[in-house]
Amino acid sequence: MGNNLEDIARALVAPGKGILAADESSGTIKKRFDSINVESTEENRRAYRDLLFTTEGAPDYISGVILYDETIRQGAADGTPFPELLEGQGVIPGIKVDMGANDLANAPGEKVTEGLDGLRERLNEYCELGAKFTKWRAVITIDKGIPTEYCLWTNAHALARYGALSQEAGLVPIIEPEVLMDGDHSIETAFDVTSRTLHAVFTELRDQKVWFEQMLLKPNMVLSGYDASGRAGIQEVAEQTIRCFKRHVPSAVPGIVFLSGGQTDEDATAHLNAMNAMGPHPWELSFSYGRALQAPALKAWRGAAENVQAGQAAYLHRAKMNGLARSGSYSPDMEEKVAA
Ligand code: 13P
Repeated sequence: MGNNLEDIARALVAPGKGILAADESSGTIKKRFDSINVESTEENRRAYRDLLFTTEGAPDYISGVILYDETIRQGAADGTPFPELLEGQGVIPGIKVDMGANDLANAPGEKVTEGLDGLRERLNEYCELGAKFTKWRAVITIDKGIPTEYCLWTNAHALARYGALSQEAGLVPIIEPEVLMDGDHSIETAFDVTSRTLHAVFTELRDQKVWFEQMLLKPNMVLSGYDASGRAGIQEVAEQTIRCFKRHVPSAVPGIVFLSGGQTDEDATAHLNAMNAMGPHPWELSFSYGRALQAPALKAWRGAAENVQAGQAAYLHRAKMNGLARSGSYSPDMEEKVAA
C-alpha cells in the first residue's frame, strides 16, 4: 500500500509538534563540529545524531526528523537503523534530497540548487530506506541588485520539478525557498523579496502539478537583515510574516514549517509563538529548525560521551519550548526556570 501523502503532511504539523532538521551536509556538520572543537569523523557524526534521536521525551514535541544521505544509512549504537529507531518512537523519518546550491551562470552573487539529475532513482532508494518525506532547499540572497527574477524563477522551477517527482515517488515534499537574512536590509526589503520568491514558487508549483494538500512549505520568517540598525521586534516580525504568507500561500497547504536561519534559539521560539498567538491561521504554523533546536545541545555535548545526558536535556528543553510556541503558550520566563 502506498503512503497517504495528505495524512503524512498533516501528521508532520500535528498540534504541539514540529520537525527537527538534522540533515546538515558533510560540509555544514563539519562547521558545527569545528565550533565545539570536535573532529568530523563518521563515528562522531553518528554519535551526535544518536544523542538527538534517542532523547527520551522528544517525540512529544518532534513529529519528524530530516536526515542526510549518510545519516539515513547509519544507526544507533545497538545497530538499529535510524529510520527504524525513529518510526518506533512515532517520529517520521525524512531526507534532504538536493545536492546543494552552486553559482548560477551569468548571475554574480546568486545560486541555484542542483540535484534533479537521477532524482527519480534516488527517491525510490530513499523510500526503501524508510523515508516518508523529503526536503529541497533553494537559497536566495539579498544584496545590491539581487535577487534577480532570473534567480527566483530558476530556483522556483527546480523546486517544483523536485516537488512533483517527490509526490510521484510517494514522498511528501518540503519546499524550502530560503531568503537569507544576512545583510543590513530593512524588514520591508525582506518582505518584498520573500513576496517575490513565494509568488514564483507557488506559480511554478501550480504549473507543474504539485498538489498543495500533499506538501509543506519551509520558508524564512520576514526579518530585518542581521546587520540592520533598528531591527524589527518580535511582534512586528510576526505581523509582517503572517501578512506576507497570507498573500501567497494557498490554504490547501496543510502547514508552514519555518527554518530558523541563524536566529538565536530563543528568538526563533519567540517569533513562532507570537505568530501562533495571533491565530487561528489558514495553515498550521510550525518549525523545522536546525540550529535553533540543536545549538545548546551541541554546546553541552562537545563530543564527550559523559555529556550525552546534558546534550539531551538541552535538546529536550528547546523541543519543548518550540512545542509550546505551536499554540502561543510559550513565554521567555520558562527559559529561566529550566536553566536554574
Ligand atoms: P536552520 O533552522 O538552522 O536554518 O536549518 C534548517 C534547515 O534545514 C536549513 O536547510
